[in-house]
Amino acid sequence: MPLPLISEAPVADVTPDVTPDVAPDVAPGSKRLIDRLSADGRLPLADFETLLSSPSDADRAYARVRAADVAQRQFGNRVFVRGLIEFSSHCRKDCLYCGIRKSNREAERYRLSPEQILACCAEGYRLGYRTFVLQSGEDARYTTEVVTDIVRRIRAAYPDCAITLSIGQRSTAAYQQFFDAGADRFLLRHETADSEHYGRLHTAGQTLESRLACLSDLKEIGFQTGAGFMVGSPFQTVHHLAKDLVFLSEFRPHMVGIGPFLPHHRTPFGDQPAGSVDLTLFILSLVRLMLPTVLLPATTALGTARTGARDAGIQAGANVVMLNLSPPEQRPKYLLYDNKPVSGEVFEMTEAVRRSLSRIGYDIVVDRGDHPKEIR
Ligand code: 5AD
Repeated sequence: MPLPLISEAPVADVTPDVTPDVAPDVAPGSKRLIDRLSADGRLPLADFETLLSSPSDADRAYARVRAADVAQRQFGNRVFVRGLIEFSSHCRKDCLYCGIRKSNREAERYRLSPEQILACCAEGYRLGYRTFVLQSGEDARYTTEVVTDIVRRIRAAYPDCAITLSIGQRSTAAYQQFFDAGADRFLLRHETADSEHYGRLHTAGQTLESRLACLSDLKEIGFQTGAGFMVGSPFQTVHHLAKDLVFLSEFRPHMVGIGPFLPHHRTPFGDQPAGSVDLTLFILSLVRLMLPTVLLPATTALGTARTGARDAGIQAGANVVMLNLSPPEQRPKYLLYDNKPVSGEVFEMTEAVRRSLSRIGYDIVVDRGDHPKEIR
């Protein structure tokens, strides 16, 4: 029997792995490492250090084109939107980089009632949002019971929506209760995978070990789990960033939040320089290559750091955008860093994002936007 002329293999399998002429002047050493990362989903620490030490424009372009190609194969030109509801700016933690840290006595604090949170969801739902991200400082007033009740009410009112929590460290039992009440996802950035660096960004009593224990609990319970870190946080070295990438390659989270560090004037790091947008974009591309199915936002911090950088994040391999559904009058009180955008009506912001993404060939979709689950 003659061989069929048309291969029955899925398209992705017959598409050449590397587009020729992409960044032709990429350094052969960098190309080899980026190709290996893509093929194996991991690299040794020293290879990440080499890649990250001083990537050239061509290196970054090569990673970007390859990562955008992977995102395109996984998600097409679809970008998922998340409706962020910042429901409390009270925080018992004192992270040195964060504008709502406990010691910032100038920060105005607020809490949203369950009814106000549900009103945010209602507006978001009307505009096509199918994931609600409930984020807050670590606020003891929202006990396990209170949060569980809020999750239950959202779950009952919006059975077709995903509920994501981003409320910091809690007990295993509390996490389990939130999951049982219907929460689907949990974001808890690891912040840095180096315990000494972790110590320099946080106060005594906050340890990387306890953070990672929470992350592994969350994954074990069954949450789609998100880790992540800032690029350019104070004291960060290439070695630390390489450790972050090794950690992600081992933990294999469903979601990864990465943005540049941006100073907040009322924190001990108020006079530190902001993280590099270009390095953040390069790292987003590496994460996409390492975790092809990961849900990867082009973060608010990225969009704040440079005009147009959020779109650049999508072009670098990100596939999620988070927009703020919080009541406009409260937004100025949830300032994690200076210049965080606070104005804008949700409908207008959504349309602005839709327009700017469509100019680069992407569509925002009405979809829960779950992780495809096949983590290699
Ligand atoms: N710059 C950038 N990102 C920040 N975050 C907190 N403070 C800052 C800052 N100054 C990030 C942290 C946290 C997430 C909610 O916001 O990584 O996990």
